[in-house]
Amino acid sequence: MGSEEMTIWNSLPVPAILIDPRERIAELNPAAEGFLNNSAKWLQGQPIWDRLAVDAPLEESLARARDHGTPLFVNDVDVGTGSRPPLVCNLQIAPLAGREGWMVMLISPRELAGRMTQSHSVKSAAKSAIGMAEMLAHEIKNPLAGITGAAQLLSMGISKEDQEFTDLIVEETRRIVKLLEQVEQFGNLSAPDRREVNIHDVLDRARRSALLGFGAHMKIVEDYDPSLPMAWGDPDQLLQVVLNLVKNASEAADPISGGTITLHTYYEHSFRLRRADGSGQTLPLQIEIIDNGPGLPEAIKGDIFDPFVSGRENGTGLGLALVSKIISDHDGWISVDSVPGRTVFRMSLPRAPREKKENG
Ligand SMILES: Nc1ncnc2c1ncn2[C@@H]1O[C@H](COP(=O)(O)OP(=O)(O)OP(=O)(O)O)[C@@H](O)[C@H]1O
Ligand SMILES: [Mg+2]
Repeated sequence: MGSEEMTIWNSLPVPAILIDPRERIAELNPAAEGFLNNSAKWLQGQPIWDRLAVDAPLEESLARARDHGTPLFVNDVDVGTGSRPPLVCNLQIAPLAGREGWMVMLISPRELAGRMTQSHSVKSAAKSAIGMAEMLAHEIKNPLAGITGAAQLLSMGISKEDQEFTDLIVEETRRIVKLLEQVEQFGNLSAPDRREVNIHDVLDRARRSALLGFGAHMKIVEDYDPSLPMAWGDPDQLLQVVLNLVKNASEAADPISGGTITLHTYYEHSFRLRRADGSGQTLPLQIEIIDNGPGLPEAIKGDIFDPFVSGRENGTGLGLALVSKIISDHDGWISVDSVPGRTVFRMSLPRAPREKKENG
């Protein structure tokens, strides 16, 4: 490495390890020394998988990545080092350009991820929280109807000033009912009915309905790859996803001067996702919803896909939880990258199976 590369390598805030063709540690940066809790001197030459226990079957996909020269992403896996409890990490492994058989691996512990590119799966705790909320929603709706009715009756016999209070009761209970309905909608989500979908049709529908309603103050730009193949998904659910993302971007923008949303599609044939259970699939269709608004609020940045996390006064925090549920039901992937002035929600979806459907 030249001195400039060396500086970059040493300053990288994520652990990075250079692996030689025999799967030994050739080089590691200071962050990786910290992660492995040992000095580079001591670690160099040691078999990487002796030092790093990854709770996912990697051999095969690693060999494939090496042979084809394609990068490998392994998300949400437990990575242990022997010296402390395993951490949930995302691994990015890429072939080293110009040196056959060599790979470079970046380890991003999820807990430490500062600027985040985070995911996706609705965790089981969140799932049971949703189940609970659904039950509650159902139970609360009946008494609420009673309260509204009583307030309306009361309002008939009282003075104008006092009516302000009954109006308040009616208005606020309406708000709660609306929230409960959203919770119920979440619970009612059925498994996707998957078929060939033209993503651009979905984006167009979302764009048109946004411009007529909640996104009337926005400019929506299309940046499509016209050769994008069909996706494999449920068009109605995918529309719901896009609508939610466009709605969030519209709500984050200035209500008067508005902002710009870019709908961007492209194809990335090498995008593979490996899950902790060892299953994997290529997700070559990339759909990005990009806005130039203020960016995600710092305080909730790491949790936006969890239910009931909202940065808005009137938000229920269910939009992105729903998005994440739908995408994970589609075996897809969603991530976000946000800085003030540019927020990118990126979905990766599988393409439709190639064989033509039988006539019948
Ligand atoms: N494009 C964006 N720009 C800035 N902040 C965003 C963006 N998208 C989401 N957020 C933040 O993430 C939070 C969570 O979004 P989510 O859609 O889950 O809930 P919500 O919009 O608050 O409520 P709901 O969608 O249920 O009405 C938002 O409240 C907002 O603070
Ligand atoms: Mg929302």
